[in-house]
Amino acid sequence: MPAALPRIRDGGLTYRNLDPRQRLIVALDVSTAAAAQKIVAAVGESASTYKVGMQLYTAEGPSIVRDLVASGKRVFLDLKYHDIPNTVGAAASEATRLGVSMLTVHASGSGKMLKAAVEATSTRPELMVLAVTVLTSMDESDLDKIGMRGTIQDSVLRLASIALENGCKGVVASAHEALRLRSELGEAFAIVTPGVRPAGGNVADQVRVVTPAQAIASGASHIVVGRPITEAADPAAEARAILSQIGA
Ligand code: C5P
Repeated sequence: MPAALPRIRDGGLTYRNLDPRQRLIVALDVSTAAAAQKIVAAVGESASTYKVGMQLYTAEGPSIVRDLVASGKRVFLDLKYHDIPNTVGAAASEATRLGVSMLTVHASGSGKMLKAAVEATSTRPELMVLAVTVLTSMDESDLDKIGMRGTIQDSVLRLASIALENGCKGVVASAHEALRLRSELGEAFAIVTPGVRPAGGNVADQVRVVTPAQAIASGASHIVVGRPITEAADPAAEARAILSQIGA
């Protein structure tokens, strides 16, 4: 545990009672707008938030985001910005103009960079700037090689604190990290958790996975689910099954 971590004051805000439909984010990890729209149509009313990541965005550009927003969907733009503050601020400003509801930045880009991203989104207060702390693909030896000493959990906590102090509305973190983040930093921020697999489902290539209910019980406010929904024979039924597992 790092010595003097400032506690984030709650101010009464909590994500504990969020409606299950607002918690579910479907990842559109495909390479064409047509494939993405096919998934959105198949999911129907079972989800309203879609994650557009670097694959789809690189292939199709901002038009897919504009189209999703125009059709009433909420977009989580997961491009993990990490650059000088001026550049990240400019990119976040463009994302704001696109009408996205959530976007990601790397917490390790520094407080100045995080603040620039947050300030650039101020015209759209409902837009959540979320910080990626430590990528789940990294282990302690990877961190050690880049000069980040200590446990992964301590690094996650330190980076999350910096993100919240600089105005980010939440973090992206695994369910394994969520418990400690909630106990150390309180309730007043979002924890968006990937690596979720429906109870009884196929774990595919994910090694450390949790069920939707486990993620929420660990303190996640939102869950990101990709292939279990997008590759299902009936994506809407799969999404409904996940919603029922988190209390819908
Ligand atoms: O595995 P699945 O298809 O559900 O992944 C959905 C999204 O979650 C992907 O966009 C992936 O980048 C992200 N993810 C992650 N960390 C993990 C697993 C998945 O960020 N450990």
